[in-house]
Amino acid sequence: MKLTIVGGGGFRVPLVYGALLDRKERLGLSEVVLYDIDDTRQDRIGHVLDGLAEEKGTTLPFRTTTDLVDAVQGADFVFSAIRVGQLEGRVIDEDVPLGMGVLGQETTGPGGICFALRTIPVMTTLAETMAAHAPNAWLINFTNPAGMVTEALQRVLGDKVVGICDSPSGMCRRVAAVMGKDPKALWFDYFGLNHLGWLKDVRDGTGAPLLDELLADETALAKFEEGRLFGGDWLRTLAMLPNEYLYYFYYAADTVNAIRGGGSRGAFLLQQQREFYARNGANPEAALADWRATRHDRERTYMAEARSAAGQDGEHDIEENSGYESEAMAVVDAIVNNTREVLILNTANRSALPFLDERAVVEVPCIVGRSGPVPVAVGEVPAHAASLISTMKDVERTTIEAALTGSEQLAIKALALHPLVPSVNTAREIFDGYRRRLPELAETFA
Ligand code: G6P
Ligand code: MN
Repeated sequence: MKLTIVGGGGFRVPLVYGALLDRKERLGLSEVVLYDIDDTRQDRIGHVLDGLAEEKGTTLPFRTTTDLVDAVQGADFVFSAIRVGQLEGRVIDEDVPLGMGVLGQETTGPGGICFALRTIPVMTTLAETMAAHAPNAWLINFTNPAGMVTEALQRVLGDKVVGICDSPSGMCRRVAAVMGKDPKALWFDYFGLNHLGWLKDVRDGTGAPLLDELLADETALAKFEEGRLFGGDWLRTLAMLPNEYLYYFYYAADTVNAIRGGGSRGAFLLQQQREFYARNGANPEAALADWRATRHDRERTYMAEARSAAGQDGEHDIEENSGYESEAMAVVDAIVNNTREVLILNTANRSALPFLDERAVVEVPCIVGRSGPVPVAVGEVPAHAASLISTMKDVERTTIEAALTGSEQLAIKALALHPLVPSVNTAREIFDGYRRRLPELAETFA
């Protein structure tokens, strides 16, 4: 089996490689290829991977390339986690709206629209290269904004593109932990779009609904991230548990204030990651130690702006050996070994959410086997969630059209229809700000 990692120099690649080291026999892995446009970054990460293999006392040969066709030729699985425009781009995505008092948010906010405008054309090229040179391959897409990118790539790859995110499964594990239960023994009624989802109930083997009891228990709520972020009152009002990213919708103004006081996530990461990649990492053991320390700092400060807005000064709970890489591994394993495991993934709706059409990409529990994810029927959901999902799906599709056609009118329409953007004039100003600061956007939207 050939697996290609697109964005091979990315900071989280060691997580994926470490997980592959543990499962190489089970997956029948024979070839791992790292592809990136920047070979120096790949080189730096390559030493970290060597350090991991040495530490585990096992090997999984990998090679690096900057030739996309060579990378995907005959692949069975392609993982993609790229950041078009790198962290410099993220800073602009977040900064421009903030200059107008609007929260940028690099995935579900107006920042995500700008991020998508430059990412979708690049990802479409990847999908077309796969269709030509690896027609049977699955694309496991981590590239953000993951829901929108997955929706856009369906046009080329159909159901062979699967969008993944560690946020819903992370929430389910945290909920199971406070309930003192094994997550595998529970059913999680989760629904929505990527970074825009809700847990509407949790059931155990008896079918009894368990969420209300959790939402009524302040001591339990204080023990996990989403409970602390949203607060018991609002959670009981919603009677659901929102994905952590919904903080940016429910508490947008508070987040803007917190960022003004403490700086944006993009600016912090730009500095941190620049320093990491600039350090000499030729010794595998030292490279691994340096990467681990840097990662620890990154995780510790994850969503710090939301925590600060919520008056929480604690650090993010760091989960080892779970989240990001496990999500990717679980999908590959379920397809290769036809496990029919239930995973929360981004795939075409079919009729999971009855108020959306069949092809709309949604993030819902899916049964995953050899032929890929099959979404389960979610059914009715509370009206406010359905309307926010519908609005954001329209914003996503407008953004995709704008990205593929270079239409300024559609790009401004997408921004203006976004719930966080308060006026059409603000949308125009945000778009002009983006175009001024991003040469690639100036070129596409000339
Ligand atoms: C979570 C989300 C990812 C996102 C990441 C951001 O893992 O699910 O979609 O990319 O957080 O983390 P960062 O350290 O870049 O702020
Ligand atoms: Mn995500």
